[in-house]
Formats: sequence, structure tokens, C-alpha cells
Amino acid sequence: MTDKYIHIKTKSSSVIINTTPVAELVYWGGVIDENSDLFSLFDKPRGHVRLQQDIPVSFLPENGRGFFSSPGIEGHRLGYDWSPVFKTHKIEAKNNRIVIISIDETAQLLVKTEVELNEYDILSIRNTLKNLSAESYYLNRLSVTIPLPEKSHDLMSFGGCWLQEFKSHRINISHGTYKQENYRGRTSHEYFPGLITGTNGFSENQGEVWGVHLAWSGNHRMQYSVRSDSSRFIQAEALYFPGEIILSENEEVSTPWVYAGYGGCGLNSMSHHFHDFIRERVITFDKPRPVHLNTWEGIYFSHNVDYIKTMADEAARMGVERFIIDDGWFGLRDDDTSSLGDWFVDKRKYPDGLAPVIEYVKNAGMEFGIWVEPEMINVNSELYKKHPDWLLKLNGYDQPSGRNQFVLNLTNREAYKYIIGRLRWLLKNHDIDYLKWDMNREVVQPGCNGKAAMQNQVKAIYKIIDCLKSEFPGLEIESCSSGGGRIDMEMLKRVDRFWTSDCNDALERQHIQKGMSYFFPLLISGSHIGNKSSHTTNRKHDVNYRGMTALFGHMGVELDPAKESEEEKKGFINYISLHKKYRDLIHYGDLYRLDFKSDVISGLGVINKNKRNGIFFISQNKMSDYVLNERVIFSGLNIKAKYEIKVIKFMDPSLINGLYMEKKPAWMDTKTIYSGDTLTKIGLPLPVFFPESGMLIEIVLAS
Ligand code: DGJ
Repeated sequence: MTDKYIHIKTKSSSVIINTTPVAELVYWGGVIDENSDLFSLFDKPRGHVRLQQDIPVSFLPENGRGFFSSPGIEGHRLGYDWSPVFKTHKIEAKNNRIVIISIDETAQLLVKTEVELNEYDILSIRNTLKNLSAESYYLNRLSVTIPLPEKSHDLMSFGGCWLQEFKSHRINISHGTYKQENYRGRTSHEYFPGLITGTNGFSENQGEVWGVHLAWSGNHRMQYSVRSDSSRFIQAEALYFPGEIILSENEEVSTPWVYAGYGGCGLNSMSHHFHDFIRERVITFDKPRPVHLNTWEGIYFSHNVDYIKTMADEAARMGVERFIIDDGWFGLRDDDTSSLGDWFVDKRKYPDGLAPVIEYVKNAGMEFGIWVEPEMINVNSELYKKHPDWLLKLNGYDQPSGRNQFVLNLTNREAYKYIIGRLRWLLKNHDIDYLKWDMNREVVQPGCNGKAAMQNQVKAIYKIIDCLKSEFPGLEIESCSSGGGRIDMEMLKRVDRFWTSDCNDALERQHIQKGMSYFFPLLISGSHIGNKSSHTTNRKHDVNYRGMTALFGHMGVELDPAKESEEEKKGFINYISLHKKYRDLIHYGDLYRLDFKSDVISGLGVINKNKRNGIFFISQNKMSDYVLNERVIFSGLNIKAKYEIKVIKFMDPSLINGLYMEKKPAWMDTKTIYSGDTLTKIGLPLPVFFPESGMLIEIVLAS
């Protein structure tokens, strides 16, 4: 390579950057071992009737250079300096980290681009813009652009809504742009800020894939564009409201970090990079994830100390390790119309405060957690009576309410001080191990003194959590936002768990948990056994199906154990102890989502890093289209090793009464040992189960 090009690589991927005239990623994919001069391969041919210069798709492509797709930067100085063109000024490259400074001397703007390919094969990129002029720069947009190879033309995105997070969508784009814009003021259920693109028909185990995630908990835009020369790129940015970013002299602003992962063998291989990176570099806890009991779907707002103690007794008996009191302990909160902001214990419900309950829970051998929603305020609250001006809003307009509540303006110093003060009071005076941090509405007209304040509001939330985390070492926090409305990497840098969804329906959880697992490992994905009759769908599921589904995450139960039948409780005890038995494998092994040709069945499992054992769950989601189910083809096993297959749980009584099947697959009846190679090539035939039931299989290295 010449000095013009920088090549950084790991064991399985390479990144090549052309540094002049501006930094452009010219290759990102499987590792390139050739050390000779590849430079001529990146010399782009040119067609007729085009600009007669190469137009780089830089990390911040400029319209002023002749880049005709979505520019990476838009801004001006009251109408001037609106079309910058940058030139590389300085490059520092050390240990797979490159920092490139580029400057536009005419517009007096400087861009710092930071690129790192870490040992987990995750590429992190960020652009920072600095204003070098004495005149302010009005910035409308600043993004990160990542060019992708032409062969990456299938696109996968994640949309949904409350109770339906992480629904994946697949499209094939040969022309134009797919664009997702989220203006909801939180990461959102509707558009997860992540896109995956790959070679034709990529699947869990096949094809090359490139996944890109924008680590930001507010509004965002992500787009995937195919250009007229068939080159393509993903562009990601936080959205700014008009006038929100005005840079005075020497002031700078950064894009959120963009995290990107390449997988050479399908989606599973890409996920392994994200999962390892998150486990090793992002999360900070270092103890097994305790099994939860969360009170919400058990008692909602009806808190009574004696009853909660009975629930705690039952929970401890079932093997629960952390007991969490949800919404309803503060102010006069008997329903969702009041008291947000009044972070004082409700003496009607807890006459002696929270301490006796906490002590009781601790004496029962469990950790204690409590629910808060610090960013919100109800008009029906003491706080609002005193400070109606603390709403995040634009004066002169009516704010719509959402779940009867409004957003507190945390960019207002006094409001910020009040909220962090109440949280400090809560944590200093009570033996609390865990906060469930909720956020239950979207943000409209986020204004402060007439100006847009969305960026600062998100940063204020980060700051509060950062302060609490450093002041209360060991405190764990869950990010919940009406379920999965705030799941992203920037949040994960400061929290320990996500509440994946308010939907505990085991059938819906198949796609929700799977969707989340593309970027995030199972150990931070809250998955609870809910009531027999799902509170959000009214579907009824056997405890085994609920238990098997909840096993594959950070497990908990979400119900009132005191009211449950002995048979149900036996089920909870069984799955809690199974989870503890396999927890280390499930949380720290490699996840393999299984490829099936339709969603009639689905499945996933985890194989430990040394490939000695694995655990898989197969779910029959619907009636089978055929007399028999598809075979399960495994991946991730050591092809040379021999494995024994064991059924941990097969819940379908239809085999006994012969409704669907006269004969089980032979491997289910006898001790069977197959090589990893055979299981990967021929696979196991499956029985047909009742819809909404499943099977747990263990694969163990044969002795
Ligand atoms: C929404 C959350 O997602 C639920 O789990 C629960 O905590 C409620 N809020 C409480 O209001």
C-alpha cells in the first residue's frame, strides 16, 4: 500500500481507507492478506457524461465536491459557507485507530474523523465538526457515511410498535434510497437505529453481511442508498431541530458513535462480533445476572406491605434472586394519571417507608430493585403545582399529553438538580441494588426558552445516569421505555439491562427477542415468564412454553406468585433452576439463530466458546404447512467432534395420544451420538408439535 492508503485488519476483517483528498472507506469486509499494492483496484473507472474527477464517498461526503446523493453535512453562516469541501490535513494511525483531520479553509471548518477497528471486529466511527471562524456556524445535519460493496444489496431493518418491537423487514434495493426517520424523542419502538445489508438472500448462516448501528437515544435518520454507478452506502445521523446546533468560534459537535460489524458467514457471525464487543468492552457488571421478580403484572398500583412480603416469600422459595417493586410506591399514585415527579414514599401504602420491605427482601436472600421514571411529570402532582414552568415545551403552544404525562425539562438547571436530588435521596437512604428506569412517552416540541433542546435533553439523561453510576458503585440500572422504546448502545454504556418488551406473550417474544439479538447479547435482554394468560394479548400459554422462551435472556418472572397454582409454581421453580444451570452458557456462549424456510418453526441456541456443549430451543409457532416439520440444521459445532443429543424438555402430549405423529424421530428414543459435521450437514428430523409449544435440546461433547 502507498501512504495514500491505510489498511487495518483483525483476524477476520479488513478496512482500507483512502486518505486523500478526503478520507474514504474503500474496502470493508473479509480479511485481505495480500500485502502488495492494491491501490489500482480502488482507482474508479469513469463513464461518459460524468464529472471528470473521482468523487469520493467520504465519511462526510460533500455536495460541494460533486457528490450528488445525500450529503454528510449541511449548514451555513447566515447563508454563506453552505457548501464546504474538505481536504485531508493530518492523519494519525496507531493500533488500528485512525484519526483524520480535514479542513475547509474557505469555509473555516474542521472535521475530525475517528475510525477504529477493534479486536472484536467492530468498527467504530464518529465525525466531529469544529467552527474555526469568529462567525457562528448554523449546522443542520452532520452524519457518518459508510460505503458498502455492490454485492450488499439485500437490506434488513427493524420496525414495530409498542408490544411489537424489533420486527424485521427485508427488502432488495437496486435503485434509490431506503430511509428511516425517527422523530419520537427516544430511540423508539418504531425504528431501531440499525440496518443490516448483505449479499443476495443472506441468512443466519449464509452470505456476507454488514450491520450498522447508530448509538443514540433520541431522534435519528438512517438511510441506505444505491447510487447511479451502483455503489451504495449507509448514512447515519442524529436529527437536529432548526437552530439547535449553532457553533460559535472553536466550538465543536460530534455525531453519535456508529458501530458497525461485518460477518462473513451470515448474520450469526456478525452478531458474535457485536456480542463479544458488548460483553468485553461495553457492559460493566461482572456477576451472574440474578433472576428477577418484577411486581408490575402481578399487582400493578395496588401496593400493600404485608402482601408484598408474601410475594417476596414466594419469590424467594421459587429461586428468585432480585425482587423489584414497580410503579405505584410514590406520591399518591393509584393509577397512571398522577404523581410523576413526586418522588416521595406514599405513606398510605408504606406507612413506615420503604426500609421494612427492603429489609424483608434482603433477609429473604434477594437483592432489591425499584421503579422510577425521572424524566416525567404529571400535571396532577405536587411538583407541577410548584413548577408548571419545568415542562419541556414551547411556550405559546399546547403540549399533547402521552399516558397522561409530560416531559420534564432536564436542560433547566433547577429541574435537573431537583430530579438528581430525589434520586440521590432514594439511593442514599435505601439499600437499593437496582433501578428500573422507565420513560413512557414520546417527545413533542422539545423546547427550552423558545429554542430546540432535544440534543441537550438526551445528554442530560446520560449525565444523570453517569453521575448516579459513579456515586453509587454497584448500582445496576435497567433501561425501560414502555418496554423496548430505548434500546441502543449509547444507553447500554450506562445501563445493565434492557426491558425488551411489555409483551410477555411467549409467541410474540420469539420474534422480539430474536430481533434484539442481532445487535445485543442475550444477557442484557430482559425476558420474563408472564401470567398463563398474557396481559397484553390474552393468549394462553403453558408454563413450559413461557419458561423455555424466558430462558434465553436475562430471566425473570412478572406476575403475582402468591396467587399462582402449585402446578404453575412448580413450572417457575423448574425453569428458574434450569436457567441457573445453563445461565453461564446462555449468557457467555455464541448465539446461533437457526435458519428455517418459514416462520412456522423458529429456533435459537447457544454453544459455548470451546464448542463442548450447547442448548437449543425450537418453537412451533404455527400449524405446520406439511405433514412433517423441517429438519433442524445446526451450525457452530466442531465438525470433527462427536456430540450426544439430549432432550431436556419436549412438551407435546400429542405424541402420547398419537394426534399428530405415530412415530417419533429415532434420535429422541435412544442415546444418539453424531459428529458435528453430520449435525451441520444432515441435521436432525423434528417431530411436529402443537402450535405454540416447543422443545429444549442439549448438545454435549460425547465422552
Ligand atoms: C411501562 C413498563 O414497560 C412496564 O413494565 C411498567 O413498568 C409500567 N410502565 C409501569 O408504569
